[in-house]
Amino acid sequence: MKGCQPEPIKRVHFLCIKWRLQTSVCRTLLVRNSLKKISNVKHLGGMQVLDLKTEKNLHKKKSLNGLFEDYLSNVVIFDNKEVLRPTYTPDNLPHRDEQIQSVVSILVAALRGDTPSNILIYGKTGTGKTAVVKYVGNELEKTGESHEMPCTVIYINCEVVDTQYRLLATLARHLGKEVPMTGWPTDQVYEEFKNSLDEKKRVVIVIMDEIDKLVRKGDDVLYNLSRINADLKNARVSLIGISNDLKFTEFLDPRVKSSLGEEEIIFPPYDAEQIHDILEQRAKMAFKKNALNETVTRLCAAFAAQEHGDARRALDLLRVSGEIAERSKSSTVEEKHVRTAQDKIEVDRIVEVVRTLPTQSKLVLLSVLKIKEWLEKPGDNISTGEVYTAYKQMCADIGADILTQRRITDLISELDMLGIVNAMVVSKGRYGRTKAISVSVPENNTTNVLLEDYRLKPLENFVPVMQSSQSQLF
Ligand SMILES: Nc1ncnc2c1ncn2[C@@H]1O[C@H](COP(=O)(O)OP(=O)(O)OP(=O)(O)O)[C@@H](O)[C@H]1O
Ligand SMILES: [Mg+2]
Repeated sequence: MKGCQPEPIKRVHFLCIKWRLQTSVCRTLLVRNSLKKISNVKHLGGMQVLDLKTEKNLHKKKSLNGLFEDYLSNVVIFDNKEVLRPTYTPDNLPHRDEQIQSVVSILVAALRGDTPSNILIYGKTGTGKTAVVKYVGNELEKTGESHEMPCTVIYINCEVVDTQYRLLATLARHLGKEVPMTGWPTDQVYEEFKNSLDEKKRVVIVIMDEIDKLVRKGDDVLYNLSRINADLKNARVSLIGISNDLKFTEFLDPRVKSSLGEEEIIFPPYDAEQIHDILEQRAKMAFKKNALNETVTRLCAAFAAQEHGDARRALDLLRVSGEIAERSKSSTVEEKHVRTAQDKIEVDRIVEVVRTLPTQSKLVLLSVLKIKEWLEKPGDNISTGEVYTAYKQMCADIGADILTQRRITDLISELDMLGIVNAMVVSKGRYGRTKAISVSVPENNTTNVLLEDYRLKPLENFVPVMQSSQSQLF
């Protein structure tokens, strides 16, 4: 608005008359600040009055605008946090030479124009299966290009693409065919994929990661894929299946099993030293120089090796430790940050496990927690009988099916295996045996997570009927 724009310099000078600043730098600042204020000056009958209300708002706004400033001005300890995330594929994989060589020695056939054997790769989670196969796949494509021997590598995560239709449609789309993700007869999608595949001479490697997730919904597609070469004139297909479930082939048709498992490669877990090497290499890229206390990578490696040598877990731990250090405005990552990160990751893990339990297991766990809440002596263990009584009460309250005590004992053992409760068999002399159950997870947090389930929500104020010690035993 024109009327609100007073002749700047004169009026600025007038408003700031008390500020007698000497240097030109300060003067520039003064003018800049005053010009900001000037927009609050209103004209009242030729007089200018500073609008104090707006002035106040300005201050308020300024402090809100500064919300992020505090954090931005923290010491930065990460150089490139992304390299610690699971999506990053490193091009140097320490302690996996043997496995890389095994995969390469099988896939090299593709560069000679032959069909490589199918491969099944097993190993526990975080042992580098996906990283190795993606790395070798990239190298194969590059070498294929330079040797004019086209190799196409298609990576599919069967946790996401988990039906035979979706798998075939995804494969066809990779080869440039417009196949809808639903709606066509599966045979038609298969034909489309086969025809596009055979358009030219090439070797196509199909990597099916987490293949066990696909197999759960039937193995027809694997049967068809493992036989597809018989129907092709130009192209050749070879399959790589990856799984961390060593038993999944038990569910396969024996013909599929033998075809898919022409070659098998096992990825052993890493030990603490090996994880430490992996972390050191990634930490160099991820953190600023001198941002890591030297004990940090050792401690992360030791924690991860305690589980089963899971490199993903170790990298997560290192990243979360860095984030915690950054949030606490520390310029270096210290041991204490790693310990806090370890607790946080553990709590997150438990929350995730509890959230995804079947309803009956949730009821059993809630029974244990509610009894614990009402125990006279908080340190006392809980018996299976007590849990069963509370569980039946709960089922009656919310109209759920009541399982037998034997089933409930099994569910308690499963919770024990997941590390949520600790159930020890104890002998009660002539009264037989029972389980002494204690809770291994933070009680309040876990109860809250359980009550997030709308079916359990009505049990929020549930009070268990406590039994006398003798009747608890059965
Ligand atoms: N030898 C290694 N060198 C460098 N990084 C590695 C190595 N092994 C694994 N990693 C890293 O650890 C993380 C987990 O590895 P990866 O995803 O390959 O495990 P996985 O065996 O496929 O596990 P899952 O069975 O859970 O899928 C990734 O970030 C990966 O980059
Ligand atoms: Mg994987």
